Amino acid sequence: MSGQLTGQRAFITGGASGIGAEMARRFTREGASVVIADVNDTLGKAIAVEVGGEYVHLDVTDSTAWEKIITTHKPFDIVCLNAGVATKTDVFGATVDYPFQHLDNDSYQHIMSINVDGVVFGARAVIPGMVERRSGHILVTASLAGIVAIAADPIYGLTKHAMVGLTKSLGAALEPHGVCVSALCPAFLDTPLLSDNTRKNLSLLDLGIMDVSIAGDLAMRALTERVSGSQWIVMDGQSISQYIPAAPFA
Ligand SMILES: NC(=O)c1ccc[n+]([C@@H]2O[C@H](COP(=O)([O-])OP(=O)(O)OC[C@H]3O[C@@H](n4cnc5c(N)ncnc54)[C@H](O)[C@@H]3O)[C@@H](O)[C@H]2O)c1
Repeated sequence: MSGQLTGQRAFITGGASGIGAEMARRFTREGASVVIADVNDTLGKAIAVEVGGEYVHLDVTDSTAWEKIITTHKPFDIVCLNAGVATKTDVFGATVDYPFQHLDNDSYQHIMSINVDGVVFGARAVIPGMVERRSGHILVTASLAGIVAIAADPIYGLTKHAMVGLTKSLGAALEPHGVCVSALCPAFLDTPLLSDNTRKNLSLLDLGIMDVSIAGDLAMRALTERVSGSQWIVMDGQSISQYIPAAPFA
């Protein structure tokens, strides 16, 4: 199939579901070949079959597994560091309980290991090959919660702000080496990440949930504009745009 990504190879973590699966579908339509990496083997294999790609089991928190898989499957033109979780299923809405009330060590370490360590380990595994070839694009799935407050889940907000910070600095560091790093910062998308309660609260507040196909458009916009260190935002009813914060010392 020919398109804007003809001949390119993409690696997508969390590709078994939601945003990752959508990027797999869209990249395939654009002519790329796709490797889906996930811990959900059943869904991951099904998406791989659907798009005619490959599936690999990868727990993004396992740095040794990252190195092995990238060594075996490289090179990649596009790497989507997308797998992510929330600390609780209600990522939006009721803040009746104060946010840290139920934050035990296990749930804190769980989200930090996937949303932060998993992205750092992935970037570290793929960057040397990209720098050597002086090409490549790393897409980090952050969130609008990496730019604005998310009162119901501050630790989710912490991890997504970390992803925006990583993208900015890594983007600046890698640009001279021909490698681009961009962050995707969508608002709410219709994926299994959103619980029924979150959906109910969003509806009460008249906040829309976007069709997940927007994720494909968002990723394609970031890939085609190719601005290293950039953040790409989209909200229900608004078009995709680059978020450019005011410089603090202009
Ligand atoms: N859905 C939204 O509203 C929304 C908005 C902004 C950003 N995001 C972000 O988008 C990304 C994808 O979320 P989604 O909405 O598609 O959710 P999802 O639950 O549909 O998909 C997440 C995928 O990550 C996989 N995963 C979880 N832990 C993993 C691990 N340790 N190793 C490998 N894979 C693992 C899951 O199996 C699943 O397939 C996340 O980083 C999320 O924070 C989601």
